[in-house]
Amino acid sequence: MRTSMRTHACGELRESHDGEQVALCGWVAHRRDHGGVTFIDLRDREGVVQVVFHPSEAPDAHAAAQRLGAEDVVRVTGVVRARPAGMINAALPTGAVEVTAAGLEILAEAETPPFQIEDFTEANEMLRLKYRYLDLRRPEMTKRLRLRHDVSRITRDHLDARGFVEVETPILTRSTPEGARDFLVPSRLSNGSFYALPQSPQQLKQLLMVAGQDRYYQIVRCFRDEDLRADRQFEFTQLDIEMSFIQEEDIVELIEPLMVRLLKELRGVDVAAPFPRLTYAEMMERFGSDKPDLRYGMELVDLGGVFAATGFNAFSGVLGSGGRIKALCAPGGGQLSRKELDGLVQDTKGRGAAGLVWMVVEQNELRSPVAKFLSAEELEAIVDHTNAKVGDLILIVADKADRVAVALDGLRRSLAVRLGLIPSDTWAFCWQTDPPLFEWSEEESKWVSVHHLFTAPKDPENLDPATATARGYDLVLNGFELGGGSIRIHQAEVQRRVCEILGLEPAEIDEKFGHLIEALRYGAPPHGGVAFGWDRVVMLLADQEAITEVIAFPKTQSGADPLTGAPAPVSDRQLRDLGIRLSEQPKAP
Ligand code: AMO
Repeated sequence: MRTSMRTHACGELRESHDGEQVALCGWVAHRRDHGGVTFIDLRDREGVVQVVFHPSEAPDAHAAAQRLGAEDVVRVTGVVRARPAGMINAALPTGAVEVTAAGLEILAEAETPPFQIEDFTEANEMLRLKYRYLDLRRPEMTKRLRLRHDVSRITRDHLDARGFVEVETPILTRSTPEGARDFLVPSRLSNGSFYALPQSPQQLKQLLMVAGQDRYYQIVRCFRDEDLRADRQFEFTQLDIEMSFIQEEDIVELIEPLMVRLLKELRGVDVAAPFPRLTYAEMMERFGSDKPDLRYGMELVDLGGVFAATGFNAFSGVLGSGGRIKALCAPGGGQLSRKELDGLVQDTKGRGAAGLVWMVVEQNELRSPVAKFLSAEELEAIVDHTNAKVGDLILIVADKADRVAVALDGLRRSLAVRLGLIPSDTWAFCWQTDPPLFEWSEEESKWVSVHHLFTAPKDPENLDPATATARGYDLVLNGFELGGGSIRIHQAEVQRRVCEILGLEPAEIDEKFGHLIEALRYGAPPHGGVAFGWDRVVMLLADQEAITEVIAFPKTQSGADPLTGAPAPVSDRQLRDLGIRLSEQPKAP
């Protein structure tokens, strides 16, 4: 880390440097005056080292050091000294040494920062984002940026060794159908026309395969105007991959060793491969989710058979109208208070289900508000089917299948946290396979693609939207969808048929996808690919719960950037150039 201004980085110094003359540059993290001697902790990207100013050895430097404030930028010259045995600070990598200062130069003075630059911060998100350049000085943030770099470095190495070539694709492009709203950029030269920022490079990576490029990857920014959540940003990064002459197995063989390597090199953890593979249908049946967290049990159990002839109206009504009755058993959940149980009922209704039946397994009975409506045989069969033990909590939801799934998935996730059932440092990967090709959208009253419309059907002869299966796959880690992809349609006529099933008119197909369908006519290799949410991968490796913690300059939940003030109104002149007239005054973000 030597430059013309310094000999070492602060965080690099060790006992082996004892006696060396050094010049260091960095920020004043702390200053203490102790028995006439002044100590500062000097911080740079590599870490912190203690610098000592003795009034007798360097009176000028000592006098200047006494005036230093937090975050002043300084250059210190001096000698590295090993600390005596009892003075070693084991908590610091540089804790075996300190630097006795001979000279001090103040390179820049700092105003008092709006929050302390320390790992533990009480600053709220707005403040941290407004002063992100201060927030990123905090050692744990610096560490996360480095981790992100390492994740990409290892990945590039992995892909390069396997013949992948990184190709850049345009940011100003046409709408890509990934299912979210587009960010649009008005054209100055063609007023009234717009570029769309890419939701992903999907069509372009397929065109690269038609172009004979065989193995493409890109660590690429994607843009989606959708509701923001802890694992979603407007602009996010994908590791985007496409390969020719492959089947599903080739993707698995490429990705599993990459994930194993990332965990080994960055977390020191051995993850076993091959990862489990579950079909979409099996995931929904066993966990009520297409991205189940496999670190703990609490699988869903079907109680339809138990209540086939029940006299309990709420249950018989649901079965009569084609619904499902399913349950989960939360080990040790019997400890929840009545208030907490009522809270679970409210949460379940909040997720759209008609209600929730809870039952606490006690020594000789099932304690539940509905126990009196059920027969002794039914109560016994519930315990039997759910394999419940004394002290457990059984939760039953009866409703339409999709509502049962959403409700029990939510309960399963929240109870796992609440009951402490999630083992630490466990990495449960699994592949989701065989998703449906289409699903019915109530909102749009039409069939829509489950993945995207370029996904190949398992059987090109069966494009029946109600039953067709896709050659798609998702990689799930600890309950998060890390990435997804598919084998693509490489025959023009199949692509056209799928567009038709999605309700696109022939003219619309030509206008939106004509270029791709035409390309497929010029000799398209069988191909497929995958894309990973890179922010999510880094988030999980960094033990974080929000991707904003691993993005250098993220946006707030409302999509604003408090640092630069984006989005912001533009001048009338700029609007005129773009041929845009506003119908309302600009709104503050
Ligand atoms: P998909 O839409 O599933 O597939 O996206 C791939 C992965 O990107 C991540 N992701 C996001 N991360 C943060 N913020 C967002 N708003 C966001 N949206 C998606 C998820 C997701 O699994 N072109 C296809 C891939 C392919 O078929 O090869 C695609 O983009 O982790």
